[in-house]
Amino acid sequence: MRTPVEGFSKLTKEEKINWIATQYTSNPEAAKSVLKRYWNTNSSVQKVHDEFIENTISNYYLPFAIAPNFLINDTLYALPMAIEESSVVAAASKAAKFWLNKGGFKTTIVGTEKVGQVHFMYKGDKEKLERFFKTHKNAFFDDAKTITQSMEKRGGGISSVRLIDKTDSIENYYQLHCTFQTMDAMGANFINSCLEQFAKTLKQKAAVYDRFSSQERDIEIVMSILSNYVPNCVVRAEVSCPLNNLDEAGLSGIDFAKKMVQAVNIAKIEPYRAVTHNKGIMNGIDAVVLATGNDFRAVEAGVHAYAAKDGRYSSLTHAVIENGEFRFWIEIPLALGTVGGLTSLHPMVKLALEILQKPAAEELMQIVAVAGLAQNFAALRSLVTTGIQKGHMKMHLLNMLNQLGATEEEKEILVDYFKDTVVTNASVKEALKKIKAD
Ligand code: HMG
Repeated sequence: MRTPVEGFSKLTKEEKINWIATQYTSNPEAAKSVLKRYWNTNSSVQKVHDEFIENTISNYYLPFAIAPNFLINDTLYALPMAIEESSVVAAASKAAKFWLNKGGFKTTIVGTEKVGQVHFMYKGDKEKLERFFKTHKNAFFDDAKTITQSMEKRGGGISSVRLIDKTDSIENYYQLHCTFQTMDAMGANFINSCLEQFAKTLKQKAAVYDRFSSQERDIEIVMSILSNYVPNCVVRAEVSCPLNNLDEAGLSGIDFAKKMVQAVNIAKIEPYRAVTHNKGIMNGIDAVVLATGNDFRAVEAGVHAYAAKDGRYSSLTHAVIENGEFRFWIEIPLALGTVGGLTSLHPMVKLALEILQKPAAEELMQIVAVAGLAQNFAALRSLVTTGIQKGHMKMHLLNMLNQLGATEEEKEILVDYFKDTVVTNASVKEALKKIKAD
């Protein structure tokens, strides 16, 4: 019989493990053993991980891999990727290799503006509120000076604070819609601290504004929080090459390019396809975002909102054939940081950033956008030529063999055998059965 627990957060790690193992698993000793097997043997490394989050009882490993040969703006990169799905890293690597001798990837930063909002309720005359806002606008910047000082020294800070009337959607609802430049930081803490100060300033100044009635003075702050929708923090990555340099998988350059353009166009108009198309892009993006210690949930939320910005969920990539060339590009919002957060705490994140030659946030945005574009190129290339299963299953083979309990020797024989044989669940089972019987 399971019982609720009081004060779980205050238990020791050992006590937490005992509790979860006995209450929620059928074999507590086995559960404890799995949890402890994944502890880091170096206690100081383990302590760092324990303190990232709350109620930590073990670690959850993801493979950390390298996709080499990315030529980005004429500089060669090897991308660190943290992901559990087979064939993603191979696909990225294959796309990087494909574009390596075709000029590589070109990227540009379109904008780096971050957003935050103070949501509030004001019951009264709208024009009076606008006059109040004009009179006190500078106070928002002045009162936040202690928070913004260091960011300003680095070239960032608050860019704008605007009053927005949202009363046509919700009665009495207004916003301070604010924009920021946060340089190499993702900026969540900076933005939220500024916003909470704006909310205080708003309340304080309104409370003593002599043109307001007593009801108007009583502004109700609902919440102050950054937005993960950053449609002006955007990066573009592109590849292009003459059609006669694009022969692929037995297709002529023009035929291959036409198929790629068709595939992208379908994802542009068909949401069912667009979601999977963009999922493939996020395979690359999330893996680099995670390896570099960034917030992939924020990135995911912002990217998908951007994909629907024109009123229908659509492809994040674009492809055209123009003047004898195939052009393929992505435009994507990415709020990333290379300082703060996990970047100096997690030893693997530090290493990932070192492998990327310690990029500034803008450079990391460009690298991550390229990872997304490369991933989409590889997936579409497979989809419009061999089909996805051939390569995906080839990469998945080791997982299947492990699941079936193959020995190292059997794995070696079967990896070799499946170089020229189609991998399916049935064919792998059959081949393993045959070896075991021999
Ligand atoms: P292949 O042609 O069999 O590979 O492709 P290859 O053996 O000829 O090797 C060529 C290069 O590929 C290698 O060069 C590597 O760069 C890379 P090399 O290192 O030899 O100089 N490569 C590998 N890298 C690391 N480990 C490996 C490996 N094998 C090849 N074992 C490949 C095989 C899987 C790359 C290809 O079939 C492919 O790109 N497939 C696409 C796979 C894919 O997109 N996977 C994502 C998961 S599926 C999904 O979730 C998304 C999707 O639904 C999105 C959508 O619908 O749009 C598909």
